[in-house]
Amino acid sequence: MDESEPGQGRGEASFDFTGRRVLVTGGGSGVGLATAQAFAAAGAEVVVIEVNAAAAAVARDAVPEVMVDAVDVTDATGLRELVSARGDFDVVVNNAMICGDDDFLSATPEQMRREIDVNLMGPILVSQAVLPGMISRGDGVIVNISSINAALHLGNEAYSAAKSGLQSLTRSIATEFGPAGVRCNTVALGTVETPAWTQRRAADPGVLARLSGWYPLRRVGTVADAAAAVMFLASDAARWVTGTVLTVDGGFTAGNLRMSADIRGHDDQTAP
Ligand SMILES: NC(=O)c1ccc[n+]([C@@H]2O[C@H](COP(=O)([O-])OP(=O)(O)OC[C@H]3O[C@@H](n4cnc5c(N)ncnc54)[C@H](O)[C@@H]3O)[C@@H](O)[C@H]2O)c1
Repeated sequence: MDESEPGQGRGEASFDFTGRRVLVTGGGSGVGLATAQAFAAAGAEVVVIEVNAAAAAVARDAVPEVMVDAVDVTDATGLRELVSARGDFDVVVNNAMICGDDDFLSATPEQMRREIDVNLMGPILVSQAVLPGMISRGDGVIVNISSINAALHLGNEAYSAAKSGLQSLTRSIATEFGPAGVRCNTVALGTVETPAWTQRRAADPGVLARLSGWYPLRRVGTVADAAAAVMFLASDAARWVTGTVLTVDGGFTAGNLRMSADIRGHDDQTAP
């Protein structure tokens, strides 16, 4: 990354999670993999849940010290068994997702239901499995990975509805279990370059470069940008932050330069 460019930052933030036990769902790819790597590098003992065998192998290769379990986030029994086998967690990152490109009017109930299941029921079931341990220790942090799609329509109706529900779940858990010492927050991401974009990029190689023009910071996000936000919310630096949404989107939802230029009748001078 060229740090001389605007919006690139000046190096990585550093956090210490020595001795902390961290669970990352969907940790074999993209944001989840980078987050698992970042926590391991910061001294945490990391467990990854991953249903995709190829992604699980990637996680094992990339971070050999991480434990990878083939549990589906929609499998309540499997999740409870995982917690019994692996023990309690200090930090849990609800990151696993699926996002179809289905046409809303022709998508089957099964397709829509699966998106709601993985993206919303998954975090509900994971939270139910891990919260008893956090409550009994009087300490724990849950970070839910949402999307700017929760706040505005950009396509993917069922996925977006699930992400909106996830932000409500964040508030509920923060309120209900705050007195027991549990914090819960959301990271709402804008476009992040991950394998989730592989198919769309194969069909349209310029899609991410074009998308960059919609972001005030003139680039899409990296997995490191996302992992840094998760680490902050999981860390003691955020000890009085709970029930909130940290939007990590390069300024996308702050305003719309292109619309503003169009209304004022001149070009977006800052466009790449
Ligand atoms: N990439 C983006 O542009 C973007 C934008 C906004 C929000 N997000 C959010 O960031 C998070 C990570 O996205 P990503 O782009 O890294 O996705 P990704 O597709 O690269 O990784 C998601 C992982 O979740 C796993 N997974 C799917 N279903 C699962 C299940 N039932 N149980 C366990 N694991 C399962 C997949 O196998 C995959 O490895 C998601 O919550 C996503 O909604 C991503």
